[in-house]
Amino acid sequence: MTIRQAFARFWPLTRGDRRWYVLVCVCVIAAAVCETVAILLFGHLTDHALEQGSLAAFWHPATAWLGVAILGAIIGYLGNSLAFWSGERFVRRLRAHVFGHVQELPPDFFQRHRRGDLVERLSGDVEAIEQLVVSSAIGVVSAVFRIVLFSAAAIWLCWDLALVTFALAPLLWLAAKIFTGPIRRFARSERVADGAITSVLEESLGTIELTQAYNRKPAEETRLDREAGAWMRASVSGARRSELYEQVVEVLETLCVLGVIGLGVWEISQGRMTLGALLSFAAFLGYLYPPLRSLGELNLTATAATAATERLAEILSAAPSVTDPEHPVELEHVRGRVEFDRVGFHYPGAGTPALTGFDLTVEPGEFVVLTGPSGVGKSTIAKLLLRFYDPTSGQVRLDGVPLSSFAVRRLRESITLLPQQTLVLRDTIRANVAYGRPDATDEEVVEAARSAAADEFITTLPEGYDTVLDPSMLSGGQLKRLTFARALLRDTPVLVLDEPTAGLDAASAHQIITPLRALARNRTTILITHDLSLAQYADRVVALSGTGSGSDAPRVGGRLLSAAREL
Ligand SMILES: Nc1ncnc2c1ncn2[C@@H]1O[C@H](COP(=O)(O)OP(=O)(O)O)[C@@H](O)[C@H]1O
Ligand SMILES: [Mg+2]
Repeated sequence: MTIRQAFARFWPLTRGDRRWYVLVCVCVIAAAVCETVAILLFGHLTDHALEQGSLAAFWHPATAWLGVAILGAIIGYLGNSLAFWSGERFVRRLRAHVFGHVQELPPDFFQRHRRGDLVERLSGDVEAIEQLVVSSAIGVVSAVFRIVLFSAAAIWLCWDLALVTFALAPLLWLAAKIFTGPIRRFARSERVADGAITSVLEESLGTIELTQAYNRKPAEETRLDREAGAWMRASVSGARRSELYEQVVEVLETLCVLGVIGLGVWEISQGRMTLGALLSFAAFLGYLYPPLRSLGELNLTATAATAATERLAEILSAAPSVTDPEHPVELEHVRGRVEFDRVGFHYPGAGTPALTGFDLTVEPGEFVVLTGPSGVGKSTIAKLLLRFYDPTSGQVRLDGVPLSSFAVRRLRESITLLPQQTLVLRDTIRANVAYGRPDATDEEVVEAARSAAADEFITTLPEGYDTVLDPSMLSGGQLKRLTFARALLRDTPVLVLDEPTAGLDAASAHQIITPLRALARNRTTILITHDLSLAQYADRVVALSGTGSGSDAPRVGGRLLSAAREL
């Protein structure tokens, strides 16, 4: 991605803030004008006060100089503060934009990307892009203006000296050109390595118990060290290149200053120039080079930022797997009839289909147990029902309406999923129970917890419902009941539970049966499980076996059901 493409990709996000950038530029320009005036006053002082040793000629220009300096300081302060503020505002907005997009991406996106790398993209890369889009944009305007202003002043003072100076400008440009390519490569490797380091740290800290128990400390350290090595190589090589560039530029500038002094001495000896003018001229040169140089450097930062741009653009180009229809169907009251009609599904990029020709109809209020070997597609069915994906073939319907005709939000208001993994937040128990319905009253939260048999252990916690949840302080069964309370509070017509007893011991599994039945009462319930002891509570058992299990499932289910009843 070129700098221009990278810039064009993210510049639209500055909408609404551009007047602030203009204001910053105005401040920068005003500050540059103050500097120019100060330099001219300096020349005037040299020629009239210093050379003549006249104190009387000192006061007037000195006061003016001080005044200009103070004005310049105030403008500089305002301009720089504003520039910083608007830059950070952009960072905030860009991060919110990417985060908002990430929130809508399908589960397979998160399986394909390491979490640490995504974290890095949302933190470090976002800031790198600010450098490109806001800081560089303001930087270019201000540098160009300063160059024009100081050059004009230098030409006005002495045009032939100025020409010597400008003759070297193409050399600076050439130097910048030569150095950008490699620096961009190193910047890209560094961003990638940053992501890899964050990933290793994240994964390693997440499995710390395993690492300790299996004596894997050295292996984990090697893993980190490998990424850190790549990062260091890229970072040091990049810094070395930048440093080399700086020093080359320094030498070029010295060359130019020497040329100016030599020529200046000659001009003075011919009586064509005063000392004050020469000193002012030298001062302008001193002011002229930083913006020239910063243009070159901006090129480098911008080049480095394109690496970050590519990484964020990759996230932004991942499309959500489902979208809202233009005219969504509104159902006043969802009854909860669920139909899978010859449903087939292929995960994006997967070789074989996860599901083919799956048929299932669940009547409102019916309690169906869905069972079958691992990998047969049970969790996929849950994902299709929540519309994390649309089926590749066939149709899933709720109350006879295809899921794709609902607004995604509306659909998910009608269905509650209890994922296989027990997901809790580091927040109070109350907030955890009310997660799916933040406006629930305290009474409703307690009521839900009671029905889920969670109230009994919650009230023994030191701060009851206000205890901040640390998953290690509750048992698996207790956490499960907490999520049941969460589901009960949502009180939707359809409920899908994915392996609620997985990972629970027999006693804990037994403890969730009563709350499970409370949960399933009066709503369409699909319970995915291996645990056939749960089958006795169901109205019907459907067994999936390999592909295309749908049509004969009820028969198999019937047999299983009677088997379960006999237990
Ligand atoms: N994100 C994914 N990408 C590709 N294949 C997947 C993905 N998730 C699941 N699968 C595959 O789809 C099949 C069904 O998976 P799943 O529904 O999780 O099975 P179950 O819940 O019955 O164990 C499996 O073969 C699995 O490997
Ligand atoms: Mg599963």
